[in-house]
Amino acid sequence: MAFTVRLLLFSSLFLLPVSVFAQTNGGIAVGDFLTATAANSSPWLSPSGDFAFGFFPLGSNDLFLLSIWYAKIPDRTIVWNANRDNEAAVAPKGSTVNLTANSGLVLRSPQGDELWESGTSAGVVAKGVMNDTGNFVLQDRNLESLWETFNNPTDTMLPGQTFERSRKLSSRQSETNYSKGRFQLLLQDDGNLVISTINLPTNLANAPYYATDTTSGTVAGSEGKELVFNVSGYLYVVRENGGKYNLEVGEAVSARDNYIRATLNFDGIFAQYYHPKNFTGNVSWTLRWSEPDDICQRNREDSGVGVCGYNSICTLKDKRPTCGCPKGFSLLDPNDPYRGCKPDFIQGCEEDELSRTNDLYDVEALTNTDWPTSDYVQLKPFTAEKCNESCFQDCLCAVAIFRSETCWKKKLPLSNGRVDTGLNSQAFIKVRKDNSTLPIPAPQHPCPDDKKKKSQTTVIRAESVLLGTSIFVNFILGACLCLGFVLIFRKKHVRSAEIVLDSNLRSFSYEQLREATNDFKEELGKGAFGTVYKGVLQIGSGVQVAVKKLNYVMQEIEKEFKTELNVIGQTHHKNLVRLFGYCDEGQQRLLVYELLSNGTLASYLFTDIKPSWRQRIEIAYGVARGLLYLHEECSTQIIHCDIKPQNILLDDYYTARISDFGLAKLLKMDQSKTHTAIRGTKGYVAPEWFRNMPITTKVDVYSFGVVLLEIICCRRSVDVENNCEEKAILTDWVYDCFLGGALDAIVDYEVQALGDKTTLENFVMVAIWCIQEDPSLRPNMRKVVQMLEGVVEVQVPPCPSPFSRACLKESFVSQV
Ligand SMILES: *[C@@H]1O[C@H](CO)[C@@H](O)[C@H](O)[C@H]1NC(C)=O
Ligand SMILES: *[C@@H]1O[C@H](CO)[C@@H](O)[C@H](O)[C@H]1NC(C)=O
Ligand SMILES: *[C@@H]1O[C@H](CO)[C@@H](O)[C@H](O)[C@H]1NC(C)=O
Ligand SMILES: *[C@@H]1O[C@H](CO)[C@@H](O)[C@H](O)[C@H]1NC(C)=O
Ligand SMILES: *[C@@H]1O[C@H](CO)[C@@H](O)[C@H](O)[C@H]1NC(C)=O
Ligand SMILES: *[C@@H]1O[C@H](CO)[C@@H](O)[C@H](O)[C@H]1NC(C)=O
Ligand SMILES: *[C@@H]1O[C@H](CO)[C@@H](O)[C@H](O)[C@H]1NC(C)=O
Ligand SMILES: *[C@@H]1O[C@H](CO)[C@@H](O)[C@H](O)[C@H]1NC(C)=O
Repeated sequence: MAFTVRLLLFSSLFLLPVSVFAQTNGGIAVGDFLTATAANSSPWLSPSGDFAFGFFPLGSNDLFLLSIWYAKIPDRTIVWNANRDNEAAVAPKGSTVNLTANSGLVLRSPQGDELWESGTSAGVVAKGVMNDTGNFVLQDRNLESLWETFNNPTDTMLPGQTFERSRKLSSRQSETNYSKGRFQLLLQDDGNLVISTINLPTNLANAPYYATDTTSGTVAGSEGKELVFNVSGYLYVVRENGGKYNLEVGEAVSARDNYIRATLNFDGIFAQYYHPKNFTGNVSWTLRWSEPDDICQRNREDSGVGVCGYNSICTLKDKRPTCGCPKGFSLLDPNDPYRGCKPDFIQGCEEDELSRTNDLYDVEALTNTDWPTSDYVQLKPFTAEKCNESCFQDCLCAVAIFRSETCWKKKLPLSNGRVDTGLNSQAFIKVRKDNSTLPIPAPQHPCPDDKKKKSQTTVIRAESVLLGTSIFVNFILGACLCLGFVLIFRKKHVRSAEIVLDSNLRSFSYEQLREATNDFKEELGKGAFGTVYKGVLQIGSGVQVAVKKLNYVMQEIEKEFKTELNVIGQTHHKNLVRLFGYCDEGQQRLLVYELLSNGTLASYLFTDIKPSWRQRIEIAYGVARGLLYLHEECSTQIIHCDIKPQNILLDDYYTARISDFGLAKLLKMDQSKTHTAIRGTKGYVAPEWFRNMPITTKVDVYSFGVVLLEIICCRRSVDVENNCEEKAILTDWVYDCFLGGALDAIVDYEVQALGDKTTLENFVMVAIWCIQEDPSLRPNMRKVVQMLEGVVEVQVPPCPSPFSRACLKESFVSQV
């Protein structure tokens, strides 16, 4: 499998005299220093001479890199370098590095300005050691380590190096630029080893595109404790319980005879290489393994812009991504194909109105190319011709993708573009015939004021597209998406909802389900209604299901059970979990649902790292639409009665899917019990449950309001652990903040949300409408959906509970 990879560096550029040996024996005294000079900078060598520490000349411009490299091989591979947070990471000719007692290594420019210092943990440096392992260590008098490069790694790990949690590798900018790049490998605090993109210049990480999944999720103690690259050249995560998760398969090469390294490459690939120590002739590094297999397919909305940048197309070549631009687009940075592409034209609706579209655009057709995350509308059933035409006539549309009767219309900037031969799709890209930019709008209408205003906004919109693109280049904005959720991506282009089972419910025998779940072996969760197990139905190539074993054996409701199941069975909506079938055998009552891969909304929202604002908005829309369907659009009205984040699941695409609907009626007898427990803690339950009032769909609206606030704030509705009493009850606190005009506090100063203030404010107001104590004041779900979507204007809501602290304060203020 292994194949040779030319080293990233142009070795011919680096003609360091190999013969220069500073006989340090690995030990460097305080006061020793090195100067960056082209001619005879002699680095500090390790005792064996394998590794060198010093100024590495960067070929041209008299620039040097303070770094560690392999001293005995011509492919001068850098394994560590200093000063990475600096844009250039380089030091000019004449710079010095001194080993000092109190500040460790100090790098100064020729003018004497400090460029970088290692610092030390408390202690006085006695000496430095360039170890044969490739580790440069600062030691105190007792040979205790005060600072070492192994604990401050850049993009490479070496045998003998170990990572604790929260330590990371980050890639370099490009083959020849050693400042910090946009890929990061991190052993998370939850034990998961992930690789993700970060949105430079911040360290905000997007959803990972590779994860080992070594969390406590499955078995207690299985979370990763450290990442070990052992001296034999094996790389693995050691679990808390001592188990190992190997990153590779097969035998490692001999660490005695080979140099071995694992590098997070500038294109996001984490790979292990080896190079023989004793060699003659033209020998280079050999790839042993790399992850992920196909990085082009690993990008998705929440993993940021993708390896190739905006508007580009990623193709896998020798396991590495290569990037190109579609016709009508060109590289933003001609020297760096990984920065993305810019359109060679501006598309604007105003302008398109002026001339007929046909005169302006050509359509370029591509097969098996997709930009999976930039669509704004989906049409189905549709034909390829209609798809092409629909995009052609739509001034917002940049590209349309057609696949299996479905047409996705996409807008700029396109992200995560890739070629996938398995796709069987067609792409229609609109390309302007000439390169003209927007014409200066001339007033042509009787009411010029209005027209002018419209024209201006178009110009601004067009500009902001361009601006957005160029900002991306500088990594200032980017899609600021963060996600702490563990993802294992699958190459899967079929939504799980499309698994077609018989539209009527199937009846299963208990034995069948016992088999399907391997004797109820793997428990997925426990709810008020029962315990859920994972299973596989032997239909076709096997369909994964979640089997819910209902807790309470309900006598005397035989008929009701069937009727109710029929109602549930007839529901069909993309925001609902599908019920496949059931088992009703003696004492046993089980329900068989489709299995959703991404867990509950609760586990998604309430983690340390906030999911992206965009994604949370989509989830809120999804829940609202699902509820609207239950209330108004299915044949029999269904009141859920138990809307909460634990009952909202996320599918492969992080679409919200409501579960457990229809069960409330079935398990009526159980309700009083459940709800007494919640009473007084102000959870998701509408006040009418406690007030002898009729239960209507408005109870769901109330619960939705609470969930919406949780989605906005990424915190639980009741936070008893929060010492701050004011914040303990989410609904009260949000209303307080809302009154005080402190939207930013509500989202904890989250940049993305505040950048979308209109939506944020809208959502907060809708949520406050939903949690009105008086059910008649709450809007119905149709109105909620319309308000969320901005179709209907949202009025300023009144105080939700007239007797709450916040509202009394409000009336006090207004009296004053
Ligand atoms: C490396 O990349 C950074 C950021 O793009 C840039 O500012 C810097 O000039 C580059 N350094 C070199 C040596 O090209
Ligand atoms: C580094 O060492 C050189 C030579 O001894 C000396 O001139 C210079 O002042 C030193 N710099 C620092 C910061 O100690
Ligand atoms: C240096 O490397 C040797 C193995 O070559 C190792 O035993 C020793 O602990 C290392 N010393 C330090 C200070 O890391
Ligand atoms: C390194 O790890 C491999 C695989 O887990 C193991 O077989 C080997 O004994 C380890 N070597 C050392 C020196 O610990
Ligand atoms: C290096 O390889 C050559 C030929 O392959 C062999 O003769 C020599 O003994 C080797 N040296 C060492 C130190 O292994
Ligand atoms: C070394 O080998 C590589 C391919 O393995 C080749 O591209 C390169 O030109 C060779 N260099 C020399 C100096 O022979
Ligand atoms: C797409 O539609 C445009 C406009 O009708 C037409 O000119 C073009 O030939 C169509 N392309 C394909 C591949 O159908
Ligand atoms: C449009 O721009 C592209 C790329 O800049 C160029 O190759 C092409 O010749 C231009 N076409 C016209 C009609 O100016």
